[in-house]
Amino acid sequence: MKVAVLGAAGGIGQALALLLKTQLPSGSELSLYDIAPVTPGVAVDLSHIPGEVTVKGYSGEDATPALNGADVVLISAGVARKPGMDRSDLFNVNAGIVRNLIEQVAKACPKACIGIITNPVNTTVAIAAEVLKKAGVYDKRKLFGVTTLDIIRANTFVAALKGKPSSEIEVPVIGGHSGVTILPLLSQISGVSFSDQEAASLTKRIQNAGTEVVEAKAGGGSATLSMGQAAARFGLSLVRAMNGEQGVVECAYVEGDGQHARFFSQPLLLGKEGIVEYKPIGTLSSFEQQALEGMLDTLKQDIALGEEFVGK
Ligand code: NAD
Ligand code: LMR
Repeated sequence: MKVAVLGAAGGIGQALALLLKTQLPSGSELSLYDIAPVTPGVAVDLSHIPGEVTVKGYSGEDATPALNGADVVLISAGVARKPGMDRSDLFNVNAGIVRNLIEQVAKACPKACIGIITNPVNTTVAIAAEVLKKAGVYDKRKLFGVTTLDIIRANTFVAALKGKPSSEIEVPVIGGHSGVTILPLLSQISGVSFSDQEAASLTKRIQNAGTEVVEAKAGGGSATLSMGQAAARFGLSLVRAMNGEQGVVECAYVEGDGQHARFFSQPLLLGKEGIVEYKPIGTLSSFEQQALEGMLDTLKQDIALGEEFVGK
């Protein structure tokens, strides 16, 4: 299995690369790419950690050497938020970066599973889909917006509130990855219940958790370490499923049946070729149902922006 990380010299990229180096199965290859010249050095640094995962690093304008033969590509290349910005403010810079990198993925490793971390995820995934479509290699089972950070945050906050071990909590989070489009399904957590007020304030905290980090870092960027952990969880789940493990389920932002929006985050059964089954979102509380209906205009606008950027 070859896993490529694009944006590998950044805050997320380095944390993610470290976790993949120590947790990918023996014999895997970790391929790091970033425009930053330090990237081959990051690979040398990681290569001194014992283990049977080989690491190579590439920099410069051409990602192709890093991408050739990749089975999984995780993309965190791009700029991050500063206080006062919304994720959508990153569109102007990051849309072009994602388009350029996906064009290279389409040529170098068109069959790879791709996880997009770069914000605004609601829009960059639509950009990636349209670029792959134009190149004639789009397979909707293999393109994912990585929303795992919302899930691990929800697990952490619920466990703390209810005094439970976080390992016992798994919160499905559906919709998209910004503001009101992030919808944790608190009503579906087994063994835990919430008052209406608890559900409303916890939902808001999960939706605003990215901003909580941006403000705490005070101009120094957004979540990198928790996102590294989240991306590693998602990437390793994908690798396990692609290696034949049965029953691997993760939520991610993907093109499904379009019932709510063209792209929508929902639980997915993963397998050798990416998505095997789109799992139902289940029964929603009336609060969650209202929140779902309330997010759809925003989500659809975010998606349309990406589609228009590439030009349908
Ligand atoms: P960062 O600035 O620390 O790192 C970004 C890296 O991308 C840098 O090393 C930069 O050199 C590289 N880069 C820029 N243009 C590139 C290109 N064309 N090709 C290759 N590499 C390029 O930022 P970060 O904190 O790692 O965040 C990266 C992105 O991830 C941001 O857009 C951020 O908003 C997003 N993010 C998403 C989630 C999520 O849940 N999906 C969570 C946190 C951050
Ligand atoms: C997050 O949720 O932490 C990321 O999307 C980064 C951000 O800008 O909030």
